[in-house]
Amino acid sequence: MALRVGVVGGGQLARMMIAPAVELGIDLRVLAEEEGMAASLAATAVGDYRDADTVLAFARDVDVVTFDHEHVPQDVLAALVDAGVAVRPGPEPLRFAQDKLLMRARLQELGMPQPDWAAITDASELQTFLDAHGGRAVVKTPRGGYDGKGVRVVDAATEADDWFAALAEDARGGALLVEELVDFSRELAQQIARRPSGEMRAYPVVETVQREGVCAEVLAPAPHSRGRLADVATRIGIGIAEGLDVTGMLAVELFETTDERLLVNELAMRPHNSGHWTQDGAVTSQFEQHLRAVLDLPLGDPEPNRPWSIMVNILGGPSEGTLDERFAAAMAAHPGAKVHTYGKAPRPGRKVGHVNVVGDDLDEAAYEARAAASFFAD
Ligand SMILES: Nc1ncnc2c1ncn2[C@@H]1O[C@H](COP(=O)(O)OP(=O)(O)OP(=O)(O)O)[C@@H](O)[C@H]1O
Ligand SMILES: [Mg+2]
Repeated sequence: MALRVGVVGGGQLARMMIAPAVELGIDLRVLAEEEGMAASLAATAVGDYRDADTVLAFARDVDVVTFDHEHVPQDVLAALVDAGVAVRPGPEPLRFAQDKLLMRARLQELGMPQPDWAAITDASELQTFLDAHGGRAVVKTPRGGYDGKGVRVVDAATEADDWFAALAEDARGGALLVEELVDFSRELAQQIARRPSGEMRAYPVVETVQREGVCAEVLAPAPHSRGRLADVATRIGIGIAEGLDVTGMLAVELFETTDERLLVNELAMRPHNSGHWTQDGAVTSQFEQHLRAVLDLPLGDPEPNRPWSIMVNILGGPSEGTLDERFAAAMAAHPGAKVHTYGKAPRPGRKVGHVNVVGDDLDEAAYEARAAASFFAD
């Protein structure tokens, strides 16, 4: 009988697991939040991932449960484990991807390099942090942020008043995370695959370019990273994967500081936007690797199959019509570009697809990927 993987969440990450699952003969099932989502091709159930009974019913006939996002509540995860379901990554490591304050505290215990940080509950504590850090800092909501939502650069203690007020309303209480504003020269991401048996594979460290808090492009490998930088990034990734007992794909977002240190920004325990290039640029894509890792199968080779890969996100999409209507023109102009779409309706700023181009010359590949992606926006 085919190995069965259940993915909670019907977004594009679940969608992009479908093709490798078909190739490997894996029976992939998806619990989608609603009809018509990106992964609806494989959606065998539609329901609320915050409801334990819904998730338990979905998990009943799969070999392992994994995720498209980090938002499944701990009580639901605990119910799965109590019912004997294999959950990968497990509830314990997932806590550190769900809550940035827990993550900071745990990374500190592991001795990982990271920005100065503090947990704060009111404006006076924020003021104290600002005073100690040159008057500017980054305030973050510990839970539920994505694509830069829940991240705010502040230079006055009153600028987070609305978030402190929301904390006071929240019965669970809690705190905000404040971090030093890192003076970085660029952002990097390190991906590690790890299976329950402990086997690990490291992808090359990549450069991620963000615009308005959203990933716009990824260059793989990160230019000028060979040698020390790549080694340090890999060591950090492996230390976190082992230290937190992550299974499946782990992405570690990093800052490279102007004085060439690496600091950990945040973690994702699932396939990640920084690894979409692997679909066309690596021997084993992150989506195939995630399936292999959560099933405890031998991992695939993460090496690039060409010197350079570039991924350009399609953000928003055309303001009129559908992505599909732009296909023919993009394909005709850029036969070397691989266009991946998510079946999502265009909306300003929304990730609706991406373009991968691989090649021997970074500038040429980047030119082609950007040009092809531009056909899908206006
Ligand atoms: N301490 C910091 N110093 C400087 N810039 C920061 C800092 N923290 C975050 N940023 C900037 O804000 C972006 C978003 O922050 P972060 O990754 O924490 O948020 P997110 O919304 O959870 O992320 P994602 O978009 O990956 O879901 C970062 O990629 C970086 O550009
Ligand atoms: Mg981030």
